[in-house]
Amino acid sequence: MKSVFITRPIPESGLALLFPHVTVTTSPKPLTPEEIAFQAEGNTAILCQLTDKIGEQVLSLPGLRVLATMSAGTDHIDLSASRRLGVTVTNTPGCLTEATAELAFALILATARRLPESDRFLRAGRFKGWDPLLLQGQTIVGKRLGIVGAGRIGQEVARMSKGFGMEVLYLSRTPKPEFEAACAARSASLDEIAATCDVVSVHTPLTPETRHLVDAAFLAKMKPTAILVNTARGPVVDEAALVDALRQKRIFAAGLDVFEEEPAVSAGLLELENVVLLPHIGSATFETRNRMATMAASNVLAVLRGEPPPNPV
Ligand code: DGY
Repeated sequence: MKSVFITRPIPESGLALLFPHVTVTTSPKPLTPEEIAFQAEGNTAILCQLTDKIGEQVLSLPGLRVLATMSAGTDHIDLSASRRLGVTVTNTPGCLTEATAELAFALILATARRLPESDRFLRAGRFKGWDPLLLQGQTIVGKRLGIVGAGRIGQEVARMSKGFGMEVLYLSRTPKPEFEAACAARSASLDEIAATCDVVSVHTPLTPETRHLVDAAFLAKMKPTAILVNTARGPVVDEAALVDALRQKRIFAAGLDVFEEEPAVSAGLLELENVVLLPHIGSATFETRNRMATMAASNVLAVLRGEPPPNPV
């Protein structure tokens, strides 16, 4: 029997495609690798999430043919083990581009205009009337945006920034002539982005090369009025160095949807006013999560039918 094990409850649209050959864990919290290996034993496919650490223990389950992650990122999966063990890995790229770019832009505006801080201020009963000096932030229109990692999401943030008349610099491993033409974007070094951009938005995947790409040296080069936004993966930013920079007001603010040790968040961040913290909700719109679930399920079905999956990693 070809059957599918799902490591977390997913939207109904994805389940419906796999019904009836599907088992969904009943655990309300992410499973450990040991629990996944135990519960998934005997299944031909696993549909997992970015919260599941998938290594050799899971990938070597007898009869396992496909691991479909309901995420664009694949840093939680040991891809060299999957290649060695002959397990096809698939992901869900593309469908979360707009949702994640929207959230990056929401963080840019929320940090620049101090929205959560202003909301807390008002709810605390501290609003005593309009005040010329009250809660001033940074103007975004016409400012310089640095995109670190100009893949689909980074490019979409740049496109959205054109509505705000922003100038775009980008860092990418390969030149992107079409993107440059469409967004009047200019390729720049990491140093130039750090030193000259008013907003830096991080969009690189997490790899050994990008771990702590935004480190103490990068933050030290940023302008005191600058904003850092990270909707990619937490470890791309050195969280301890960021706490220092924010605490000493060496940069204006940061907006984070991802953290180094998710779901843990540095205690230092929690006590600061100049950082906006979100619980990894970049792709969390109904439309996007439905699409992610159906894409992951379609990848599983293709492999089980002996066809090439639409989104192999
Ligand atoms: C992904 O798919 O990698 C995102 O981080 C989920 O929001």
